[in-house]
Amino acid sequence: MKPTVLILCTGNSCRSQMAEALVNHHLGQYLRAISAGTHPAARVAEGAIEALKMAGISADGLHPKDIGSVLASMPASPTPTLPRREREQTNRYASAMLTEPIDLIVTVCDNAKESCPVFPHAIPSIHMPFHDPHGESLASFVRVRDDIMSRLLPALRTHFGLPQSQPSRAQLVLVVAMAKNRTIGINNTLPWRIPEDLKHFKKLTMGHHMIMGRKTFESIGKPLPGRITVVVSRDRNLKIDGCIVAHSLQDAVANCASDTQIFVVGGADIYVQALELADTLYITEIQQDVIGDAWFSEFDRSEWLEVSREKHRQETPEPLEYHFVEYRRKS
Ligand SMILES: NC(=O)c1ccc[n+]([C@@H]2O[C@H](COP(=O)([O-])OP(=O)(O)OC[C@H]3O[C@@H](n4cnc5c(N)ncnc54)[C@H](OP(=O)(O)O)[C@@H]3O)[C@@H](O)[C@H]2O)c1
Repeated sequence: MKPTVLILCTGNSCRSQMAEALVNHHLGQYLRAISAGTHPAARVAEGAIEALKMAGISADGLHPKDIGSVLASMPASPTPTLPRREREQTNRYASAMLTEPIDLIVTVCDNAKESCPVFPHAIPSIHMPFHDPHGESLASFVRVRDDIMSRLLPALRTHFGLPQSQPSRAQLVLVVAMAKNRTIGINNTLPWRIPEDLKHFKKLTMGHHMIMGRKTFESIGKPLPGRITVVVSRDRNLKIDGCIVAHSLQDAVANCASDTQIFVVGGADIYVQALELADTLYITEIQQDVIGDAWFSEFDRSEWLEVSREKHRQETPEPLEYHFVEYRRKS
């Protein structure tokens, strides 16, 4: 079984999510990263310690699996006093321990001196502060991303004795949700509400560069956290806070050169230009026709291999069946 690395963050959860996404992308064949962020790691730890105290057990020297089963046997939530979001994170932490042991904890906080205080003896840990003085700004994410690439990945390679990385060409990945009749938008917005698709999109793109047309950027209205937004426009005077503005698709791709996966996220005008360059397509295929005014262009399916298809159905906010499909270009 692959070793599991738990990435904890005190403060900005996007940092631990970005680390999780990048570690899984680069080292996923060797190990599995999961993250728990959103709140101080110390408070996750407090939740677990609290639960153990309630059960009359000391955390010292316990194997994570034992702690997991203690938490599982608790009748109530292990952290009844924490706000809901933090409780969910604590439960995620606990349930990760339930299903498998954590082999390494990485704390990516930028201010706490302590490493994970819960299981100091039971689990090895790496404390890796990421200097992040600008909070959610673009500069801050670029810096944290570069930190993850230059410090965390080599540290994990060393810790687990993995081979050193080989430089490789960035993959161009296209992400789109389209109806059966190829509709992707109406009035510069999405014609449907599919909360799971937004989560799917976030999971795919977190920690990476996203290229989008100026109209799609306007429909979103702001740079999305944890990702670097590159907006394509012919307007040479256009400046957008928190985003890189590029004046052609090639210029946009060149601005993402440091990344391993570059996501093209629409709209119709940009998709049609990027399709011939793409290596991978993530298409959310909505299983019915939808009225709209923007469409995803036809493409030659024989050039693409369907590598996975996940079927979903939602009843609310509107009843829809949709499939998450991944296609890779045949070599
Ligand atoms: N379903 C989905 O997954 C999905 C995803 C994204 C978007 N959408 C939908 O798609 C629709 C928007 O698509 P769209 O085709 O109207 O607009 P778009 O592709 O988002 O943006 C078009 C704009 O991008 C710029 N542009 C395009 N090619 C360029 C090039 N080669 N060089 C420089 N600039 C270039 C131009 O901006 P300037 O005019 O500033 O020069 C152009 O007007 C919306 O309805 C949106 O909701 C759907």
